[in-house]
Amino acid sequence: MTRAMGDDGGETSHRGVLRGESGVNGRGTTAVAGAPAFEAVELARSYRLEGVSVDALRGVSLRISPGEFVAIVGPSGSGKSTLMHLLGCLDRPTAGVLRVNGVDVSTLDDGGLADLRNQVIGFVFQSFHLLGRTSAVDNVALPLVYRGVGRAERRRRAQEALTSVGLGHRMDHRPSQMSGGEQQRVAIARALVGDPKVVLADEPTGNLDTRNGEEVMGILARLNAERGVAVVLVTHEAEVAAQARRRIHVRDGLIERDEEDAR
Ligand SMILES: Nc1ncnc2c1ncn2[C@@H]1O[C@H](COP(=O)(O)OP(=O)(O)OP(=O)(O)O)[C@@H](O)[C@H]1O
Ligand SMILES: [Mg+2]
Repeated sequence: MTRAMGDDGGETSHRGVLRGESGVNGRGTTAVAGAPAFEAVELARSYRLEGVSVDALRGVSLRISPGEFVAIVGPSGSGKSTLMHLLGCLDRPTAGVLRVNGVDVSTLDDGGLADLRNQVIGFVFQSFHLLGRTSAVDNVALPLVYRGVGRAERRRRAQEALTSVGLGHRMDHRPSQMSGGEQQRVAIARALVGDPKVVLADEPTGNLDTRNGEEVMGILARLNAERGVAVVLVTHEAEVAAQARRRIHVRDGLIERDEEDAR
């Protein structure tokens, strides 16, 4: 898959992201106990454009442990979204190794990658990627459809996830009837409904005003502190980056600096 889940949205593009097979740990996605959430070794991604090669990532090595809270920062075009797409198994590297929960993703076929995404990773994208004509509760329940969860249980879990982001009173609104901040919270609820180990968020506050941005950061911080979910987010806002315990600075497709706050 290429950048189908980039910044362009679309009603059908989530299927690839949210789809998974019903069998948990199907097709070799079984986590290795004690493994890092992500381990990248010299990860690279080049794009071919009209015969010209663009080296978006040029050899990134990193390790992110379960339960970490990491911000990825860097100039526009430095490769942040490319890295997020690779970590999220939405895209495959052109070189290097990526292990998610200890599983080398190059050993997985597209169905195996879909399972991994559906069962381990929750995505929050800046442009939300919600189905515009579908109610909030059905949007949130969608990843569970791909897991084969029954209708009543899907609805119950979607309602619980929406309530956890403060949208218990907006279950039946469609995204087009909601504010930007509410839509972003629906996108977070959808990322949470499957109980992910990791939430990846590309500019989760980018479209929001200060108050809504703070609210979204509060939800992600609570998720990390209370449920131990690892959070990896991209941001260009210094105040947002400061809330993470670790900041990875990316420049020209490489890690320039990796700084961690003392505990
Ligand atoms: N599908 C693509 N085809 C060709 N080049 C691409 C593609 N996607 C990204 N690039 C290029 O790869 C580089 C990294 O892009 P990327 O989207 O990862 O940057 P970014 O750090 O997320 O930037 P921003 O902060 O603006 O979102 C850029 O030079 C971009 O032009
Ligand atoms: Mg980007």
